[in-house]
Amino acid sequence: MQYNTVINGDCDRIMPEMIEAGIKADLILTDPPYNLNKDFGNDSDKLELSDFLKVTKSRVNLCKQLLESNGSLLWFGIHHYIGFIQTMMYEAGLYYRRMNIWYYENGFSRTSKAPLAQYEPFLWFSKSKTKWTYNVDDVRIPYKSEERLKNPVYYKNAKGERKVWKPNPLGAMRGDIWAFPTLAGKAFAKEKTAHPTQKPEALIMELIKAYCPKNTDGKYDAMILDPFCGSGTLGVCCEKLNRQGHNIRWVGIELEKRWCDIADQRIRGLEG
Ligand SMILES: C[S@@+](CC[C@H](N)C(=O)[O-])C[C@H]1O[C@@H](n2cnc3c(N)ncnc32)[C@H](O)[C@@H]1O
Repeated sequence: MQYNTVINGDCDRIMPEMIEAGIKADLILTDPPYNLNKDFGNDSDKLELSDFLKVTKSRVNLCKQLLESNGSLLWFGIHHYIGFIQTMMYEAGLYYRRMNIWYYENGFSRTSKAPLAQYEPFLWFSKSKTKWTYNVDDVRIPYKSEERLKNPVYYKNAKGERKVWKPNPLGAMRGDIWAFPTLAGKAFAKEKTAHPTQKPEALIMELIKAYCPKNTDGKYDAMILDPFCGSGTLGVCCEKLNRQGHNIRWVGIELEKRWCDIADQRIRGLEG
């Protein structure tokens, strides 16, 4: 298997080949078609609901087989269908960890007959009931207020003992609402490609930092798979981290040659 590359092909065919070859991923971080009629240059987002559910179920099961025993699956699924997908993950024998939310303040609406869409849910399930990676300290955020840091704050620990709470020097624990703007407008013109549903690098980078296993030197050291990699955002983020001395082996799969070429261009653009 060649790592750190985008394979131009159909993941419904390639994932079974990877399983056959004994390939395993520590993390599958993916953003599959939502079935909302997006134009990816193919019909993958325009299926009858029953066909969409059938292929999605098969894909969830393939992902489960590809995961290492302590691996995690992170799956962006639009709110319309997230309930179906969550059920499929339970049925596949994966373990629910969290329904995360990607929240964006800069959403826009084509209708005044419903609230403005400002989030996409993404599911986190683990293969093991008890073991998974979550690097809490790598994704801490600044404390909102300095005020409560001025006077001692007390809490009771599990034994009922009174303890003084001390702020973590790395910041507050991140919540399950991940706020990052979409790539809309001039501010993101440099990052945005022609792909219609490109995810922001800042969001994907943060997710890799949170969920990628590390080695004893504290470097990210794992295999990450994105079977629906579009314009290659996952690969771009992994390559940026590898240039900082991390050791991520990643594989992207994308049906359309056009998006593979864009992914290659983005990755080549990191050189030099
Ligand atoms: C929601 S987009 C992913 C966007 C990506 N996260 C990015 O940042 O660019 C889903 C992608 O899956 C691709 N796709 C659809 N069916 C596929 C299949 N069977 N195998 C591989 N890729 C597929 C589509 O062409 C589309 O580019």
